[in-house]
Amino acid sequence: MSKKETPLFPLRKGLHTRQAHVDLPEGTFEEEHARQGFYGRTSHLYRLHPVTDWTRIEGPLRPHSYDLNQLASREDQAIRASQFGSREAAFAPICVLHNADVALHWVAPAAMDFFYRNADGDDVYYIHAGAGKLETTYGAIAYATGDYLVIPRGTTYRFLPDSSAAQRYLLIESFSEVTIPDRNQLGPNAIFDPAMVDTPELEAYDATPREWAVHIKRENEITKVFYPFNPLDVVGWKGDLTVWRINVKDIRPVISARYHLPPSAHTTFLAQNFVICSFLPRPFEEEEGAVRVPFFHSNIDYDEVLFYSAGHFFSRDGIGAGMVTWHPQGIHHGPHPKAIPLSRTKERTDEVAVMVDTFRPLKATPAAGLVENLNYWASWK
Ligand SMILES: [Fe+2]
Repeated sequence: MSKKETPLFPLRKGLHTRQAHVDLPEGTFEEEHARQGFYGRTSHLYRLHPVTDWTRIEGPLRPHSYDLNQLASREDQAIRASQFGSREAAFAPICVLHNADVALHWVAPAAMDFFYRNADGDDVYYIHAGAGKLETTYGAIAYATGDYLVIPRGTTYRFLPDSSAAQRYLLIESFSEVTIPDRNQLGPNAIFDPAMVDTPELEAYDATPREWAVHIKRENEITKVFYPFNPLDVVGWKGDLTVWRINVKDIRPVISARYHLPPSAHTTFLAQNFVICSFLPRPFEEEEGAVRVPFFHSNIDYDEVLFYSAGHFFSRDGIGAGMVTWHPQGIHHGPHPKAIPLSRTKERTDEVAVMVDTFRPLKATPAAGLVENLNYWASWK
């Protein structure tokens, strides 16, 4: 994201508030028109109607929503057509949305008796439900609900999930290296302290003599390489590239009591042409007059994907855990009609949601089509 030169005195016409998102003129709805996500030049328009109050939409551009809960147990042709790479029973990510920079998959793994290596991208897992142990060439690490696991491209790994719980992971596959944003004036320990990050430990592994397979994904094709020994035979390593884990409970969102911060304030990871943000439990803005829900915007330079994991999703009525919304660039979104009055009656939000904002337009797969709520666009009326 490039920084903008902010003119100190922007143009102002007609009825407006001087401080964005605070004390909107009576009876108006604020719309943000901005470039480069929330980083670029911006204007606020004050309208008499919510800009999402459409009566109908003709043409391909519309908001979408998908219920991923319905995906894991299905065996449709469309599911097979949406699996890029591994289709093993124990590890068969189902892609729902993708572009040249990022692919979002739904994964319900079982204990893998083989190893996997992604030679196409970094794998960021968000553990929506379940727990277990991740074995990697850097060692093993336990994981649980709410964890992000960041696995650099080229790492050999396998999941050994607990058999007791349902396993549901959101996989954000990044075709460029995943990093974390600069904290700038917040200081190095803000949002999450780097000391809260855990990394794998080398530990005893299954050294029984047998044949072990490593399934390597390259350009979405699988090559299986076989060894007469367990490929976790690493006895030591040094360096600054490894697998790492952070739980959303250890991410402390930045808030302002007097100003609704844009989604970019909640950025957890950065990669080329997309960002991953975490929306986590936090108090609402407390000043009378400060808006408490996301303002209407068209995010003209980004597609916005939100995965709802837990809690009550204050800005989107009718959305439950395990669902995804996708708002393509060019058409507006904002708070759902019921969200504005609801937010005034509440002190805080308990939502846990993961957002992926992509610079380049996304495409939905046939699997996504299977679990789409086709009336979602109408829920905004
Ligand atoms: Fe947005």
